[in-house]
Amino acid sequence: MIEGSNKLQGEVTISGAKNSALAILPATILAGSACTLKNLPAIKDGVYLRDMLIQMGAKIHISGTDRIEIDSTGIHTHKIDIEIAQKMRASYYFLGALLGRFKKAEVPFPGGCEIGVRPIDLHLKGLEALGAKIKISHGIIKAKADELIGAPIYLDVVSVGATINIMLAACMAKGITVIENAAKEPYIVDTANFLNALGANIKGAGTDVIKIKGVEALGGCEHSIIPDQMEAGTYMVAAAATKGDILIKNIIPTHLESVSAKLREMGVEVTEYEDSLRVRSVGKAKAVNIKTMPYPGFPTDMQQPMSVLLAVSEGTGIVTESIFESRFKYLDELKRMGANIKVEGRVAIIEGVHKLTGASVYATDLRAGAAMVVAGLAAEGKTLISNVNYIDRGYERLEEKLINLGAKVRRLEEE
Ligand code: EPZ
Repeated sequence: MIEGSNKLQGEVTISGAKNSALAILPATILAGSACTLKNLPAIKDGVYLRDMLIQMGAKIHISGTDRIEIDSTGIHTHKIDIEIAQKMRASYYFLGALLGRFKKAEVPFPGGCEIGVRPIDLHLKGLEALGAKIKISHGIIKAKADELIGAPIYLDVVSVGATINIMLAACMAKGITVIENAAKEPYIVDTANFLNALGANIKGAGTDVIKIKGVEALGGCEHSIIPDQMEAGTYMVAAAATKGDILIKNIIPTHLESVSAKLREMGVEVTEYEDSLRVRSVGKAKAVNIKTMPYPGFPTDMQQPMSVLLAVSEGTGIVTESIFESRFKYLDELKRMGANIKVEGRVAIIEGVHKLTGASVYATDLRAGAAMVVAGLAAEGKTLISNVNYIDRGYERLEEKLINLGAKVRRLEEE
């Protein structure tokens, strides 16, 4: 339950990046000895992955709120439990990790947010290029290879998941793998840094050509997960939407360039420091146009919160969602709060209104849930958000952090 129209003020510390953690946890399967992971976000999807690893035979010692020692050398199976795998999208990383270690993997088709079809054809094409034979039966992807041989792989579509999955399988393949048209998100760089710390030989992560020279074996390492740019971006937008003034700490400002640039274009004051950003609203934001693109373009995961800011800005903003084909469902919920929006396929035309009014709304996916929170914070009156379990999958201690910023938020017990 959120009581709106309170300016957000004060400081918030950002947690580790969900989409890095969801790649690096399965990647520990490739490690030849124990790993220490720091700055892990305490989010539901991370817990699901840890449970899957433990179920498979990994030993996990939790030594602090955001730090674990994980020893996956004891994993004795190449099969993933269908139960948990369908709860999230990132279970697809077990394909690359198990194939890389055991030369075989049986992983159910992934679940994840309903924001489009979300095929994994590029993942499978990449793994086949490395020599895997892939069969699909009863919703389970069965992959196996006599041996994995490095190969050139061109990704027709820029894909975060496919880029990382191929990197995982290629680490100990024989010879050189070159991924062309690779995704450049910070998560890719973070995962490549983790793998290189294990002893892999990956060059070019963060550019659109990644070269992986297969090595014999991998060891262990200590790695700190990068801060979550999407969590940070959500707080930036919430500060602007509530005409607040907040300091966002423990971030890498360059990862947020496109969001900072857009907010400045809207007349919001964004000041960059070494590892923090100050976001201060100096009056009503002005509407702008947004087109989501692969990194370093404007991120699709920020499209939903940003559209809420546009809904209460001066003028008309046009939002083009070029990554996922149906990531506008939440706008129907926003209209219940008085937003004036017209959706035509992948384009939403958002006419700013003076104020949103609180209502009972649903989170339709993770970032839609975050958008509803921003809307509730900005709206007049009370907003009740249901399905907040979606939000818990990607935002650590959300209500605690918001309350520290002066928001009136409370979590009602599930009935
Ligand atoms: C990752 O999803 C993130 N999830 C998403 O974040 C994020 O929105 C997305 O990357 C884009 O940045 C995780 O990292 C767990 P893609 P992913 O493969 O890997 C098409 C969040 O809220 N495609 O980069 O599934 C696909 O349909 C989530 O944190 C294929 O056609 O995204 C989409 O149109 C939501 N074939 C485009 O590529 C494939 O084999 C980009 O998808 C794979 C993808």
